[in-house]
Amino acid sequence: MLRLEGTRIVLGVSAGIAAYKAIEVCRRLVDAGAHVAPVLTEDALRFVTKLSFDALASEPALVSLWDGPDPSPHTRLGQSADLVIVAPATARVLAKYAAGISDDLLTATLLATRAPVLVCPAMHTEMWEHPATQDNIATLRRRGVHVEGPDVGPLASGDFGAGRLVAPERIVDAAVRVVGIRGSAQDLDGVLVLVTAGGTREAIDPVRFIGNRSSGKQGYAIAHEATARGAVVTLVTTVDLPAPIAAKIVRVESAAEMQRACEAAAGAHDVIVMSAAVADFRPKQIADQKIKKGDDGGVPLVELERTPDILAALGAKKRSRQVIVGFAAETQDLVANAMAKLMKKQVDVIVANDVSAPGVGFEHDTNAVSILAGDGTRTDVALTDKRTIARAVLDEVVRMRSLH
Ligand code: PMT
Repeated sequence: MLRLEGTRIVLGVSAGIAAYKAIEVCRRLVDAGAHVAPVLTEDALRFVTKLSFDALASEPALVSLWDGPDPSPHTRLGQSADLVIVAPATARVLAKYAAGISDDLLTATLLATRAPVLVCPAMHTEMWEHPATQDNIATLRRRGVHVEGPDVGPLASGDFGAGRLVAPERIVDAAVRVVGIRGSAQDLDGVLVLVTAGGTREAIDPVRFIGNRSSGKQGYAIAHEATARGAVVTLVTTVDLPAPIAAKIVRVESAAEMQRACEAAAGAHDVIVMSAAVADFRPKQIADQKIKKGDDGGVPLVELERTPDILAALGAKKRSRQVIVGFAAETQDLVANAMAKLMKKQVDVIVANDVSAPGVGFEHDTNAVSILAGDGTRTDVALTDKRTIARAVLDEVVRMRSLH
């Protein structure tokens, strides 16, 4: 089965020099089995021709809201799409999309769709780094829009910097990821999965906190993989990253908030994956006002107390047939320490990562883990991307569910 077989994709092309690469993207999407409907902005036609897309795509390219026989092309395209890609996405298109302006066929289609949207920005570095563009990207990400790139490298102007459109093959890979890996097992179809992601922040005063380096990437990779395998995902998170469009997002900050969210949701979920890095300690008192430095060179004493162990509490209340997965961030005696946590917290599986090893754990795009199950099974996954780790963790979840 082709990677995008049966997928209907609207390929939006806006006016940047990188528009010529969109022709290659179109070709590769069709080769991957997708039905591709190109939508070009008027100004994109200054860089590429409609004919190039007509020749390669699954249906003729459209440019205007008004020209064709279809009185409502944007709703037809938006409603029938499984995915809308905008590549290249210029600063102007991103700004219009973030602001909800729909004054041409492409932006009207973006507003008329409930399908996932993948934008691939391309522009000059100054435009990309401008706070307006960064705010627009942050807004779109918060709304669940997937953003791929831009790359750093030589630009058409001869300058070097951020702003290059990512390579066509990366756009196709991202499309496969966003629509869910076709042909992959739907072995979590309808299964309710609760995932935690990110590091908690424990306030010292209104401006300071105790935190950790967790980026949330591993937790989000698990949420994406679970969704692609058919699960219904609730993501309790301390960070904003592109999330699966269908996931329920519960935004929290502290261990106490994460505990409340998890305990409220846990009973209704079949699987819990606790990949968040929960602070072990928090200030006993949170100062109402910013603590002053004082003129005497002294430093405040912040008394700490233990945070609740969320995972242990969930393990103690585990309902029958529920599968609970914990993570263990270790720097020594990986397996022994992780196994001790598995037993102490009464969980089914513990995913041990040696966070002192290069490329492993916090902040990296990669990880390496030993997946240890209560029945003595051990699966080692060597350094790889976090989505592949997610896949292995969920394979173990599926195996544990089959034992119940
Ligand atoms: O977010 P990334 O940058 O992608 O990094 C990924 C990761 C390193 C954060 C992830 O792979 C990971 O290891 N997560 C668990 C980190 C951690 O807190 O490990 P721990 O060994 O301290 O805790 C063991 C388990 O108990 C964890 O599942 C943790 O979520 C849970 N815990 C810990 C303390 C606490 N008070 N409550 C908890 O529930």
